[in-house]
Amino acid sequence: MDHQAPLYPDLRKIDHHRLLIAPSLLAADFARLGEEVKAVEQAGAEALHLDVMDGHFVPNISFGADVIKSVRKYSNALFDTHLMISEPLRYTPNFIKAGSQNITFHVESDDDPAAVIRAIHDGGCTAGLSVKPKTPAEAVFPYLESLELILVMTVEPGFGGQSFMADQLPKIAALRQEIDRRGLKVHLEVDGGIAAATAAQVKAAGATMLVAGSSVFRSPDGYAAAVAALR
Ligand code: DX5
Ligand code: ZN
Repeated sequence: MDHQAPLYPDLRKIDHHRLLIAPSLLAADFARLGEEVKAVEQAGAEALHLDVMDGHFVPNISFGADVIKSVRKYSNALFDTHLMISEPLRYTPNFIKAGSQNITFHVESDDDPAAVIRAIHDGGCTAGLSVKPKTPAEAVFPYLESLELILVMTVEPGFGGQSFMADQLPKIAALRQEIDRRGLKVHLEVDGGIAAATAAQVKAAGATMLVAGSSVFRSPDGYAAAVAALR
């Protein structure tokens, strides 16, 4: 029999009301990435959030597809890639090949969102669309029907360890309301400054997927306690 490729979790098969925790690799020890991704999976996280920054769309550079490909073999978690880059259409195939299950890009990027969503789906991944803090919820409304995920930034993208922006809570609630009104199965993710206290606020507003960098990887109580605290 042929060698079976591992089957990674798929957002389309996960109930969109279920709470998913996605630690962000950005806050991990980059000298020990393999061990770090293993450890957060063992701590109970369903997904691993992979922040890709190009120094152009955001004022910081993180890592690219080769790093994602390298850590893929250390984890069976859902790889949730967050592209904070210009020209997402051009680079999407690299991130599909690297082993992503979900690819999220920004509505503020320079490509036609519908074309990027199509390319992500054609590559067998689920598609997410993200909004920066100053972008209104309505910017993603035209694409809701074709997405599996919406990502609301609760900090300005570019850096880990920033403070949660509580003024984004009404946007989360507005998106929750619109998703439910249309009866869509879209996961609603939040990213930036998420720790136990802010997790409670975003969950109350309707978020179902929590990205957490610092609060997991810098937790004094260990990763499992940090993931449990977010739940
Ligand atoms: C910010 C990134 C986030 C970041 C979150 O641009 O998209 O995913 O890693 O880090 P914390 O949880 O530390 O705010
Ligand atoms: Zn992110």
